Amino acid sequence: MKSIFVSMIAAAGFVVVGGAMATDMPELAKKSGCTSCHNIEKRVVGPAWRDVSKAYNKVGATGTAVDPKVYNTTQKVSEILKEHDRATPEAWLIEKVSKGGKGDWFTTTAMIPNAPKVSQEDIKTLVDFILGLEKK
Ligand code: HEC
Repeated sequence: MKSIFVSMIAAAGFVVVGGAMATDMPELAKKSGCTSCHNIEKRVVGPAWRDVSKAYNKVGATGTAVDPKVYNTTQKVSEILKEHDRATPEAWLIEKVSKGGKGDWFTTTAMIPNAPKVSQEDIKTLVDFILGLEKK
């Protein structure tokens, strides 16, 4: 009985520690409606925000280039920026989050336009948060 009790405490402790270590969604993401489709660590409707950050900071391509088990298409970051005439990932992602769109992570699932419901200033803050999750 004693050992069961001890292992229950250990299990509870693990859950608490795990929760504290994972990065939580910022309040701004909750109030802007992003959390109905996004999680930081795993794919929901949209890609995991950590994967987005890896794509633009490290891998240089989206989707299957980051995780072929989870996504079903790939675009090179350099080609995305050229196609949309944007100099930086930050500028492109502000546009994409504002207008919505598909084709960079999934072939069929699209992001809804988030502007003007969410202000340009808040979208910039969120994009900077996402890019900051995995720095170069
Ligand atoms: C209705 C669901 C939905 C909501 C709400 C949503 N997204 Fe998305 N998001 C998606 C999907 C789906 C994709 C992948 C689109 C693709 O494949 O090109 C995506 C992609 C992204 C990307 C990566 C874009 C790229 O081209 O690499 C970022 C950054 C992002 N979302 C941020 C946000 C932020 C910030 C919010 C809240 C203001 C938000 N999303 C709200 C569904 C959503």
